[in-house]
Amino acid sequence: MLEHLDRLPPDPILGVMAAFRADADPRKVDLGVGVFRDDAGETPVMRAVREAERELLARQTTKTYVAAAGNAGFNEAMERLVLGQGHAALTSGRLRTIQAPGGCGALRLGAELILRAAPDTVVHVSTPTWANHVPLLSNCGLKLERYPYFDPATGDVAFDAMLGALDRLPPRAVVLLHASCHNPTGADLEDAQWRELLGVVRRRSLLPFIDIAYQGLGRGAAEDAYAARLFCTELPEVLVAVSCSKNFGLYRERTGALHVLSATPAAADAAISQLMRIARGLYSMPPDHGAAIVHAILGDGRLRKAWEEELDAMRSRIQQLRAAAVQRLTVTCPGKDFGYIARQRGMFSYLGVDVQAVRELRERHHVYMMDDSRINVAGLRMDNIGYFAQAVGQVVGQGQPREG
Ligand SMILES: Cc1ncc(COP(=O)(O)O)c(C=O)c1O
Repeated sequence: MLEHLDRLPPDPILGVMAAFRADADPRKVDLGVGVFRDDAGETPVMRAVREAERELLARQTTKTYVAAAGNAGFNEAMERLVLGQGHAALTSGRLRTIQAPGGCGALRLGAELILRAAPDTVVHVSTPTWANHVPLLSNCGLKLERYPYFDPATGDVAFDAMLGALDRLPPRAVVLLHASCHNPTGADLEDAQWRELLGVVRRRSLLPFIDIAYQGLGRGAAEDAYAARLFCTELPEVLVAVSCSKNFGLYRERTGALHVLSATPAAADAAISQLMRIARGLYSMPPDHGAAIVHAILGDGRLRKAWEEELDAMRSRIQQLRAAAVQRLTVTCPGKDFGYIARQRGMFSYLGVDVQAVRELRERHHVYMMDDSRINVAGLRMDNIGYFAQAVGQVVGQGQPREG
């Protein structure tokens, strides 16, 4: 039976990772995979995580199952982290949370819930969006469509086109929104634009599905959650998928949550009962370790402070790299305006070059990025950013380098 299965091509990111690993040149630069890196090129275990983990292992007495909705303490801590202490949704009785295996697990759970509520629902995702949004949201059978989002000419959100498209959607269409640090473009909405978008979502009776995978890595933990906080104050129903992979550095521990805001407490009870049944049929129970770590960190003043400080340092590093990249690229590519890289947020930006140039950067200069020229800015180091800019200059630079 299995011999008829077609062999599928590997995920593009795996190809870039494998090619990078096989490259023996010491100058090689990995801007492909979307993980945070420090200035030594490592993706470290955060200090607070290491400490919480040590304490957890010392005090853990059993490995028995936790619960279908996961760790209740973690779920509550995530609600407060995302929505902020004292948010109206926390006291409304209309919010429910289920722990999920990473942000991916949360997105898939949300899609399955939507399918059960209204199987004909169309989910609208931005053009472009993170490639994995497509299978995560559509593999269960939901239809997917696109709305315009990015203006490559300016490097900013094509806000009027986005708003215009969403303002034509029928009621109950689902709109997937990146809360901050848009993947892959790095272009985010400003607070005033979120408020304008809220007006359209409300007028059109759309269901926002907010993906928060980089809280704290854009402008700050509260600022990056602005859309979730606003929408959960103002709307009857909102889904929020949260990932702890990047901001806690817990990637492989598969740590995340899905928050569901319903119109009434009874509807919220129904939604969480459905979600627990869905999870039972997909993976039964979420993994414990990462959620236990996050729960321990957020519940301990000292650990929380250490985590916040390290997260702030990660964000500053990204911002410094963005500024430094623009400065160097301005010198090596005087004919091109890379200023948008400094305006954008989070780990990703498009370099804005064609696939030919991407290949040349890879083959001649050992600089690796996705074929669409998405770069992980955090993959740069202060000591190789000059090399990177020189390489880009040689491949795409226009005109003579400026003095200095
Ligand atoms: C936009 C976006 N959403 C969600 C995720 C989920 O990540 P994970 O499942 O590793 O928590 C990612 C990870 O790269 C992402 O970029």
